[in-house]
Amino acid sequence: MEFNVQSLSKTFGEGRHARLVLKDINFKVCSGEFTAIVGRSGTGKSTLLRLLAGLEHPSHGVIRMDGQPVTGPGPDRGLVFQNYSLYPWLNLAQNVAFGMSLQGHFSRQEIRERTAYFLDVVGLADRRKLLPRECSGGMQQRVAIARALAAGPKVLLLDEPFGALDLHIRATMQNFLYRLWERTRLTAILITHDLEEALLLAQQVHVLAPNPGHISHTFTTNFNHQDLNSLRFSSSFLHQRQILAQAMESIEPYSEDMGPT
Ligand SMILES: Nc1ncnc2c1ncn2[C@@H]1O[C@H](COP(=O)(O)OP(=O)(O)OP(=O)(O)O)[C@@H](O)[C@H]1O
Ligand SMILES: [Mg+2]
Repeated sequence: MEFNVQSLSKTFGEGRHARLVLKDINFKVCSGEFTAIVGRSGTGKSTLLRLLAGLEHPSHGVIRMDGQPVTGPGPDRGLVFQNYSLYPWLNLAQNVAFGMSLQGHFSRQEIRERTAYFLDVVGLADRRKLLPRECSGGMQQRVAIARALAAGPKVLLLDEPFGALDLHIRATMQNFLYRLWERTRLTAILITHDLEEALLLAQQVHVLAPNPGHISHTFTTNFNHQDLNSLRFSSSFLHQRQILAQAMESIEPYSEDMGPT
């Protein structure tokens, strides 16, 4: 699998009201790679993810998956957003099964087996009958990830998936997602404003600079992930984090207007 973004630009509105939000974005993600895109609020991160998902159309340039242009949403891309987006009236297992049943090509037997398997992968096999409102935010987000993975996507697209979680659960979920990636070697593109999250999870980190959104820096990481909690405090990790933070500062001096919302 290869995901290829070439000369991608996006303008919203027309004529006098036209606003260029993304300009000349280029990057590639190969099978089994975890890529992160970091940037401050309003730089166009979600717009970029929506373009990759096929929910928006490029104004210029092309996004290809295995050579084929992306023209709309498809089951080859699994989506996970910040706000869980589970169906409140379905229990956890039914939520995971629902995405597969929509696709129409899984048998009932396959749906049952895959639901059980992916609930187990995210550590919620014994909670399958709970309703979303009976679960914590972290649990709900694990179900959202299980649901996306169960549908068998070629790439997982995540937009601030842990943004609504408190710091502790957030770290737990980051560790969980890294171990999941290690086990499954899923191909993933993560949008985040959390530099630590990007460096911990991704092998490739692109910085999205604003006005209009463009990739200003790309970093490649190579950490020892044996103990994730120690890694977060290791000198090589903190050093890389500082370099990434400085790269972001250099392109976007902080002002009250542009602070994260
Ligand atoms: N459908 C739309 N029509 C017009 N403008 C839009 C539309 N979607 C996004 N924008 C504009 O594009 C810019 C980038 O928005 P986007 O949501 O992609 O930013 P973001 O980096 O995800 O921000 P945040 O970190 O706050 O989520 C914003 O100025 C926004 O107002
Ligand atoms: Mg966003």
